[in-house]
Amino acid sequence: MAELKTCPVSGVAEVDFNSEDFLLNYKETYRSIHQSGCPFAHSTDGDFYGLAAHKDIVEACLKPKQWSSKFGPGLQYQPPETPGVLVTVDPPEHTFEARLVGKAFSKAYFESFIPGIRAFLNERIDSFIASGRCDIHKEISEPLPLWVIFTMFGKHIDQEGIASFRAGFLAGIGQMLQRQAPAVRPNTATHFLADHLEDMKRKLKTGEAQPEDNLLTKFITAEIDGRRLTDEKILGFCSFLLTAGSGTTTIMLSNLLYRLLEDRSRFERVAANRELIPVAIEECLRLDAPVQGLFRTNNEATEVGPLQMEADTKVMMLWAAGNLDPTVFKDPHKYDLDRDMGELRKHLAFGFGIHICRGAPLSRIEGQLFLEAIFDRLPNIQLDGPPRPELRVPVLQGIRELPVTWNV
Ligand code: HEM
Repeated sequence: MAELKTCPVSGVAEVDFNSEDFLLNYKETYRSIHQSGCPFAHSTDGDFYGLAAHKDIVEACLKPKQWSSKFGPGLQYQPPETPGVLVTVDPPEHTFEARLVGKAFSKAYFESFIPGIRAFLNERIDSFIASGRCDIHKEISEPLPLWVIFTMFGKHIDQEGIASFRAGFLAGIGQMLQRQAPAVRPNTATHFLADHLEDMKRKLKTGEAQPEDNLLTKFITAEIDGRRLTDEKILGFCSFLLTAGSGTTTIMLSNLLYRLLEDRSRFERVAANRELIPVAIEECLRLDAPVQGLFRTNNEATEVGPLQMEADTKVMMLWAAGNLDPTVFKDPHKYDLDRDMGELRKHLAFGFGIHICRGAPLSRIEGQLFLEAIFDRLPNIQLDGPPRPELRVPVLQGIRELPVTWNV
């Protein structure tokens, strides 16, 4: 066993981020950390520290030279020779990749999915509306974000395919808070994406596909400062997007509907005043950040508050805790539809700094259209029992089953 890099520090909360107790009560842990005036955490089992104060997280994320992503966003130290993308690289490589993704992910590009998403939602609702009840997490929150990503890749996917992809990548994300995880075996998605890439390259050559057709053809033909992407990078981008863009948005969708239904007057208010949908989404992202936190490592010995860290210590940026910081958000544990948008936009659910989420506008579109479809098609929807929490993936916080019912 390698020597530990961290140790318990007097006054700093000891947290087992993988324990069921923490996962079921993590907001209470953050409440007491903030109240203690010492907004840090230590995990003996994981051998890492956590930053819980909004200002400390923001400061660290603004200094990528000091707080590197080179060992990856999870707890394991990704070997430097492992090819990574985006959240696993620092500038200047990150600058190149971010420009490329930024170029592909324009506002107009994301908005081009609106008619397809609406049709998908209506089709899903048609398939179960007569039954009067369903697990809406399984019926909509899981398939919608995956359908969107596969559509981006230029590929049709059915419900069965969606279920098998989810099982594969959930296993991978589920290990992000394990110090030693078994080597990730190629899953269904890895083979599928490699085959699809070959197919798109062939179609581009024969003229059956055009550079603007989908994200893969865009990546294959993209060039920035005379540099093109290798196949390895393209596959890295695609599998990252598949995981980062779907698991997170799935959780957001179910959290969002749950927040409106747990107090039905919220649901009725937003349904009658649809201009409140963006606040409902943002407040849900703040209060129920889908990603608990992600890691950086310090390039040199660093001191933050009472933490003395030697170089290359894993430190978790606790987005979910920063979002509950009472010095930034008034009454932070309350879901408040009247919260000021200026205050609300400071939330860290999409990260901060150079690695900030590039898909945030897309997930907001998905949230907006999801709620609109529910308001239009299932106006008297109610909870049908308590939601079942998602405990398999400690780095993500949310719901695994959301039973709902409505009058047919
Ligand atoms: C509610 C949904 C989502 C949440 C909560 C979320 C959260 C995050 C967070 C916290 C990061 C920062 C990682 C870090 O600093 O280490 C991130 C990065 C990223 N996300 Fe998202 N994400 C969501 C949806 C999406 C979607 C739909 C896409 C694309 C289809 C996407 C693509 C990305 C990309 C490309 C990055 C890497 C940015 C970089 O390193 O430059 N995300 N996301």
